[in-house]
Amino acid sequence: MTAVFELRNLFKAFGANVIYEDMNLEVEQGETFTIIGGSGMGKSVCLKLMIGLLPYEKGHILFKGQEVGDMNREQLRELRRHVSMVFQGGALFDSMNVFENVTYALREHTKMSDQEMLERAKECLDMVGLGYDPDIMYRFPAGLSGGMRKRAALARSIAIKPEVILYDEPTTGLDPANSKRIGEMIKKLQRELHVTSIVVTHDMPIAFGCSDRVAMLWDKKFPFIGSAEEIEHSEVPEVREFVQGIFREDKDD
Ligand SMILES: Nc1ncnc2c1ncn2[C@@H]1O[C@H](COP(=O)(O)OP(=O)(O)O)[C@@H](O)[C@H]1O
Ligand SMILES: [Mg+2]
Repeated sequence: MTAVFELRNLFKAFGANVIYEDMNLEVEQGETFTIIGGSGMGKSVCLKLMIGLLPYEKGHILFKGQEVGDMNREQLRELRRHVSMVFQGGALFDSMNVFENVTYALREHTKMSDQEMLERAKECLDMVGLGYDPDIMYRFPAGLSGGMRKRAALARSIAIKPEVILYDEPTTGLDPANSKRIGEMIKKLQRELHVTSIVVTHDMPIAFGCSDRVAMLWDKKFPFIGSAEEIEHSEVPEVREFVQGIFREDKDD
């Protein structure tokens, strides 16, 4: 297996707020890699660092061997063509309908004709289970349910045929049934598009249900990385505390 992303001896701080210290992480081609960790610890920051949305002070972030911090504008554009991110909250552009949202990256990155874009949009909406429904296609985000918005955001992220998809809390705010569908979607996209997926989540069923490996962020590093099974049954006190805490949180909801 080859690493798609390699983070080596990484240091990242916002002023005095140190987020990562000597952090190491490697994500292999084709795997679904999940990051778990407490709120405010730096999970979203990790994804943003990977696509060059935030700078880092020390260490390395390599995308297929290329240092992200050294990339110029054009190289970053190219990086983001291959690595697409589904932001926390599944943010869609409110002023654009579903079709315009889904084809946004195609307009940015390709010279596809309107007809080709329409075909591609249908394909993607179909893949995320929204199907080709003209009514949905031309609705604005405000007119969609939470679950539909997340799926439309997924469709948008796959339109460009990325090699890697980064998901930031893809199931937050969804009920268990819709969360499960998103989890199945993530697996399906990995299977059918052979993408590498990096998922940040608080949702343990998702973390344990669709990941090849899980990494737990703790004390500015990822000291615990293992199969979902290994993390779930870990005897390491910090891991147990976190995993059980999450289950408690779920029960309280
Ligand atoms: N652009 C930024 N400027 C300053 N501080 C930030 C910025 N983005 C995130 N942070 C801080 O970094 C920490 C980690 O944030 P984040 O990655 O969003 O946490 P989470 O693990 O909940 O996703 C928080 O303390 C947050 O306040
Ligand atoms: Mg976050």
